[in-house]
Amino acid sequence: MVKTEKVARVSVTLPPELLEDFDEVIRKMGYENRSKAVQDAVRLFISERRWLQEEKGPQAGVLMLLYDHEVRGLEDALTDVQHNYSNVISSTMHIHLTERDCLEAIAVKGDASEIRKLSDELSSKRGVKLLKTMIISL
Ligand code: NI
Repeated sequence: MVKTEKVARVSVTLPPELLEDFDEVIRKMGYENRSKAVQDAVRLFISERRWLQEEKGPQAGVLMLLYDHEVRGLEDALTDVQHNYSNVISSTMHIHLTERDCLEAIAVKGDASEIRKLSDELSSKRGVKLLKTMIISL
């Protein structure tokens, strides 16, 4: 007998090129369907964020930010956020990747909650395509 797992059905909107990239990656990984790949991606996201949300005390590391600099107001907004967190930001390296995409590596050192707030404020801006955190506890 096949045990049927309960599932929830959700509908999401994605930019077409993001979906194309996703499909290409999961095809190369051997996924047979999108749902399984999305479930794995969501789990990965949750585990990464949860780890970050539950950590306390002093931390150091790098936030890697990929964004579209042609989105109106985004660069100003990202700069404003970084100025507000100058107490935890040691330095920032900017790489002009393509015509539109910029990569920023933000070195951070400070309290976990501050780093978390900084990371959340940056990643929630429209036009930010990716934010990866590489953080260690001190
Ligand atoms: Ni740039």
